[in-house]
Amino acid sequence: MTSSSDAVPTLAPRPSERQKGRNIIAIASGKGGVGKTWFAITTTHALARKGQRALLFDGDLGLANVDIQLGLMPRADLGSVVAGKMTLNQAIMRYEPGGFDVLAGRSGSGSLANIPPSRLQILADDLALMAQKYDRVILDLGAGVEKSVRHLARAAGTIIVVTSDEPTSLTDAYAFIKVTAMERAGVDVRVVINAANSTREGERTYQTLQKACQGFLKINPPLLGIVRRDMRVREAIRNQTPILTRHPNAEAAADVEAIADRLLKL
Ligand SMILES: Nc1ncnc2c1ncn2[C@@H]1O[C@H](COP(=O)(O)OP(=O)(O)O)[C@@H](O)[C@H]1O
Ligand SMILES: [Mg+2]
Repeated sequence: MTSSSDAVPTLAPRPSERQKGRNIIAIASGKGGVGKTWFAITTTHALARKGQRALLFDGDLGLANVDIQLGLMPRADLGSVVAGKMTLNQAIMRYEPGGFDVLAGRSGSGSLANIPPSRLQILADDLALMAQKYDRVILDLGAGVEKSVRHLARAAGTIIVVTSDEPTSLTDAYAFIKVTAMERAGVDVRVVINAANSTREGERTYQTLQKACQGFLKINPPLLGIVRRDMRVREAIRNQTPILTRHPNAEAAADVEAIADRLLKL
């Protein structure tokens, strides 16, 4: 991870904890299949459309699928970075149609769990330095609450927990919030309810999660937004095209754009 092309990062002053990662937004879920990757892509795209220099970082080594949803054929990915074959800088590619940069995950087997914590720390530090080149970095985390996922999440100043209204998804979101809050008191965690049947139902789902957090953890992660269930999400994914390109007027797309606006005010 250290080569001559890394001269700038190694010379740069170590950012203070407060500054570090303040523009990195991690997307977590606990459970897989709740639309985390779709949400991460759409949020990055929305931020890029608002003029932000944005990087989408696929931090899921197990089920990396940013590249699949975008129809990319990455020549380099996070796997090559973790293996020490190239620097983050070298592995980042431009997704021209969306106007943002992408670091693809590793398609195929493997998981962050198999990577030594010292390597994960180097990766998190590199990410924090890389983030200085961007206005916003969106980090799509792997599913689960395992230590390695949380380790990478630590690079982020804000963590968005995505959940649907399914009880298993809510339970896993709660579990993620719990371990994260226990490890990092005062961490900025926000909630997105995805695939809600209506805004009203989404609010109810949020209240269920909020009550559990207040009652058992004495914390109150704010609601960042509700994304409605929308058939055009699946249709866009099937066509490997971002929804903001294919169906810019879809309800789910509008919901994510509103969330991106809120993120810009944080
Ligand atoms: N707002 C939504 N409305 C309808 N379907 C959705 C929505 N968000 C996600 N989905 C569906 O959920 C599936 C899983 O999405 P994905 O982003 O791969 O989830 P994850 O990264 O959490 O595993 C998608 O294929 C899509 O069909
Ligand atoms: Mg995913």
